[in-house]
Amino acid sequence: MSPQKKDKILIIDFGSQVTKLIARRVRELGVYSEVITPKELSFIKDYKSIKGIVLSGGPSTVTKKKFQTIPKKILFKGIPILGICYGLQLIAKLFGGKIKSSFKKREFGRAFILKKKKSDLIKNFFKKKEKAVWMSHQDAVVKLPKGFKAIASTSESKFTIIENTNKKIYGVQFHPEVTHSENGKQIFKNFVFSICKTKKMWNIEYQKLEIIKEIRNLVKKDKVICALSGGVDSSVVALLVNKAIRKNLVCIMVDTGLMRKNEFKHTYDILKKKYRLNIKLVNAEKFFFKKLKNTINPEKKRKIIGKLFIKIFEKEARKIKNVKFLAQGTLYPDIIESKSSTGSLTSKIKSHHNVGGLPKKMNLKLLEPLKEFFKDEVRILGNSLGLTKNISMKHPFPGPGLGIRVIGNITKEKIKILQEADHIFINELVKSNLYNKIWQAYAALLPVKTVGVMGDSRTYEYICLLRAVISEDGMTADYYHFPKSFIDKISTKIINNVNGINRVVYDITSKPPSTIELE
Ligand code: XMP
Repeated sequence: MSPQKKDKILIIDFGSQVTKLIARRVRELGVYSEVITPKELSFIKDYKSIKGIVLSGGPSTVTKKKFQTIPKKILFKGIPILGICYGLQLIAKLFGGKIKSSFKKREFGRAFILKKKKSDLIKNFFKKKEKAVWMSHQDAVVKLPKGFKAIASTSESKFTIIENTNKKIYGVQFHPEVTHSENGKQIFKNFVFSICKTKKMWNIEYQKLEIIKEIRNLVKKDKVICALSGGVDSSVVALLVNKAIRKNLVCIMVDTGLMRKNEFKHTYDILKKKYRLNIKLVNAEKFFFKKLKNTINPEKKRKIIGKLFIKIFEKEARKIKNVKFLAQGTLYPDIIESKSSTGSLTSKIKSHHNVGGLPKKMNLKLLEPLKEFFKDEVRILGNSLGLTKNISMKHPFPGPGLGIRVIGNITKEKIKILQEADHIFINELVKSNLYNKIWQAYAALLPVKTVGVMGDSRTYEYICLLRAVISEDGMTADYYHFPKSFIDKISTKIINNVNGINRVVYDITSKPPSTIELE
């Protein structure tokens, strides 16, 4: 373990949809953080490197007989603890407080908290006496345990921030990790630096050198293959491995025919010419269209695309001799998600297919150099490796590509129509300096035709749906509010230039209740 990672803040995940954001907030402060399940916490033997513990929110309730918990001994180790939402309720319960579930007193969304007392946890947090925060709870502490004080409250709940300074245990009923809570980062700053006394030691530039060294030591003279999609993650992985072992890396790029217009050739050219990566190109378009023919069900489509990709990838990999490792762009959120899903705390909405998709049968060892990083950290890593912003700042693109953006049955003709519309949309975003303000934007083709009139003739063509969202990590998202003039321009441009579309609509739902992709 590198010296930079010795001091850490542990985050215990009770299944909140926003636990990852806690880890991010701590990392943004330059402190290493790790998310683990309550079960994993019981297996820890050495607490020396743990400078603080955050208990996340979650769907469990301490008002029932059985509830998610932690071993009680953790509370008495002198390690500072911060409970968030469910975490606060759990602390109160474990110390003998009273918690009630009340439909009338529930708080969802924006709430205003009022400062009551001074505390290290809220230094510089309240600029005024009142502050807007984001709440999501029905249970609330109604009686504080002995030794605890109320630091702030709302009109509905008396104990919105609590503390026990002797034990260095704190709790907030709201979610400081979400951006809707004004100045929420200050809570983490106070907890991490003033209360846990950690130092800033998590630094991406240093990590980059460490990773390259680790890859070199691990791989030695063996060969590595890498599934390169041309997205940020796989490109950064390829550059890292390339820096470490150069000629022993073989990248495989599979053209599924489901990429954006010109995307495949464009990224191949950059990665090959600028970075001199050893890339093997595979054109598999016809297989994908053949296998997807008449498939309408989104999950079936995802499975077909995922399986076919692996099959082709495996076939190509077998042609390369002496390969021992498969490098892939697994990110930290994927690791957190797979942990919590085994604990069945979060429900699966879609089966995500990541390029590479763990072909276990291949007998290859996995090389996952990004598995401790968040997406924005990967972008920084990419920049520091000299990766062009055309790739490092690219919007996320799903593994199944346009296959899940042509809604319903996929045909080559529909993909072509969609590529043209999407190309216009994305180009206009770039030209208007909006691309980098948006987390993800794309066009989709709906499986309905409607009537229109162009010139003096009746048309009967497809509907193009535009989607643009702002988000921090794709877990939650708000639709982007375009100026009306921009939307007008895009609509006209698509209708005038794309044969096959006679109506354009803009999706104004957020996630939740919708998801970012339509399928
Ligand atoms: P949803 O639609 O679940 O998407 O709100 C959240 C984020 O995940 C991306 N996405 C995928 N990424 N393989 C991927 O690598 C997939 O199968 C996949 N499906 C969705 C989506 O584009 C968004 O950024």
